[in-house]
Amino acid sequence: VFNTPGANANAVKELVLAALLSVGMILSLTACGGGSDKETVSYKVGTEPTFPPFDTTDEDQNIVGLDMDLIKAIGKDQGFEVTFENLSFDGLIPALKAGNINIVAAGMNKDDKERQKQVDFSDAYYESQLYVVVAEDNNDIKSIDDLTPDMKVAAQTGTTGAEKVKTLKKEGKIKEAVIVDGLDTAMMQLINGDVSAVINDKPVNEAYMKKKPDKVKMVGKALNAENYGFAVAKGNDELLEKINKGLANIKEDGTYDKLVDEWFNK
Ligand code: ARG
Repeated sequence: VFNTPGANANAVKELVLAALLSVGMILSLTACGGGSDKETVSYKVGTEPTFPPFDTTDEDQNIVGLDMDLIKAIGKDQGFEVTFENLSFDGLIPALKAGNINIVAAGMNKDDKERQKQVDFSDAYYESQLYVVVAEDNNDIKSIDDLTPDMKVAAQTGTTGAEKVKTLKKEGKIKEAVIVDGLDTAMMQLINGDVSAVINDKPVNEAYMKKKPDKVKMVGKALNAENYGFAVAKGNDELLEKINKGLANIKEDGTYDKLVDEWFNK
């Protein structure tokens, strides 16, 4: 039976059929793959939203701000979508390293050496400086040099401002470094007289001054110069390139200026 020519022909037919079937399966698998390629990728963007106008919340507690609109516009230009995650500022880099988020958009200073060891930063998108903030009616503190060893000074945890405050404490120039989770808390403590000063980014201080007029003011000179960048996990060159390209494009087509203008004139 096995050696008859007819059986051989049948075996060949079966082989051809099997081959055709597997080619078909491969083709349909590829088609599926092609289909999912067209779905837009979505990245998780982490921030800490007590940092207006960069990172804040609206009446419904949605995360909004200049950082959010910039990264959304960059995504639109580069074909990705974003969702936002609310974290504490000192939790952002750990979350990026753990892969819980893909991007940090939080007014984060990219010039910080310790951060550069842990994450990669995009091109700079905003220049900023740290300033001392005091109560509006305080006439004793006119600069950082007027801080004295009986004073408490506040800043937000994990920030460049907190680094400054901790250094002042270490040098014995102030009594206590009050490091708090949210900037709103730091500003509240300043207004309530619980602390003598806050050290924080100039554009954000100005946003708080606008929100609560005649309560706080900035004094003295800039304490540093910093550049905000978006952060990604170390080695994520593909995403970094998209962010840099998108940023360049939205700067060129006017979207960047329009958004900055919108958020600074709210
Ligand atoms: N620019 C400062 C820093 O890099 C403060 C950033 C705070 N950002 C925020 N979303 N709370 O440390």
